[in-house]
Amino acid sequence: MKTYLQAKPPSTLLMAAIFVIGAVSITACSETGTKAVDRVEEAEALARVKSLEARATEIKNDMAANPSAKLNISMPDESTIPDDEYGAAVRRGLELANHTYRELPNNVGNQLNCTSCHLGNGSEAYAAPWNGLPGIFPIYRSRDARVNSLQERVNGCFQRSMDGKPLDMDSDEMNAFISYMTWLSQDMPIGVSPEGRGFVKIDNTLTPDPVKGKEIFAQTCVSCHGENGEGQYNDDGTYVYPAIAGENSFNDGAGMARTYKAASFVKGKMPFGQGNTLTDQEAIDVASYFTQLPRPVKANKDKDWPKGGAPVDVRR
Ligand code: HEC
Ligand code: HEC
Repeated sequence: MKTYLQAKPPSTLLMAAIFVIGAVSITACSETGTKAVDRVEEAEALARVKSLEARATEIKNDMAANPSAKLNISMPDESTIPDDEYGAAVRRGLELANHTYRELPNNVGNQLNCTSCHLGNGSEAYAAPWNGLPGIFPIYRSRDARVNSLQERVNGCFQRSMDGKPLDMDSDEMNAFISYMTWLSQDMPIGVSPEGRGFVKIDNTLTPDPVKGKEIFAQTCVSCHGENGEGQYNDDGTYVYPAIAGENSFNDGAGMARTYKAASFVKGKMPFGQGNTLTDQEAIDVASYFTQLPRPVKANKDKDWPKGGAPVDVRR
């Protein structure tokens, strides 16, 4: 496995650039004879920027030449979280991802955590991992027909998957999420959507059968998620298994409320620990059943996809 440009480098690069600019302006101000800038340091900083740029170009060319190259989506060793303020934000982001409803009760309306769906600390392939996203966003999304920042994408999940309210864009919490995602991306090249992003692909042309879906649900899901998909809870209110329906679950405007989207998650990841054991048809059948169980209602869903192109499984 190749070592790719570390995601920190963009910021290292930026830091180096800022350093150089800073150094140059010190020179400009030091005409009056205060502190002379260290030319050697300045040259070294420039050389660092140049070599990072060269490495970035090399990686881009590599990826272009070999687009199917697999990138390793996983959680980096926690010991690589720096022992400084940025590292503290990374750790806070990790905590928020795993204890979202406990930590952010004003922003979460249900009893889910980000990692209820973004499994493995948001770093598991085919469970919509976050690795690489800071180098992929901003992107155009047809759901609101505009370019979205990563922060706006995070807030999309707050308003739908978490049935809650958006975080303030400039809050410490939002910065913690982005810091954590950036740290997760340290081995990912900039601007490349890795294999394993999103969910496994399924055959979207199959017709769902919710009656069969109900049987599959009873046989393969109820043991953990409960008879009505309500989840199972400890005495302290934390879940043992999360709600996939009912008031503690995602709302009907969430991606997970769409039959084919939910089916592709279920196919790859459920029953938990036994991913890829259902057929596409079974995953679609069971998804068409549990997504339609009672759940919170998202207001203004009719405003989604304002320029058209809504997928067939969108809820209105
Ligand atoms: C109920 C399940 C669920 C929960 C809970 C959830 N999400 Fe998501 N999230 C999704 C789905 C579904 C997608 C879309 C995946 C796709 O289409 O490939 C998604 C996509 C994303 C993306 C974009 C991924 C990409 O590849 O472009 C980000 C970022 C994200 N979620 C962040 C969060 C954060 C942060 C939280 C917690 C505040 C959260 N999500 C909670 C289901 C969930
Ligand atoms: C062995 C127990 C188990 C079984 C069986 C199981 N799940 Fe899950 N499910 C989990 C766990 C654990 C999570 C992730 C929770 C976490 O890590 O925080 C999860 C997460 C989910 C989620 C995303 C989170 C949410 O609450 O919306 C969905 C959707 C889901 N399961 C659907 C299903 C479906 C459909 C089936 C049956 C085909 C199924 N599960 C079978 C344990 C199970």
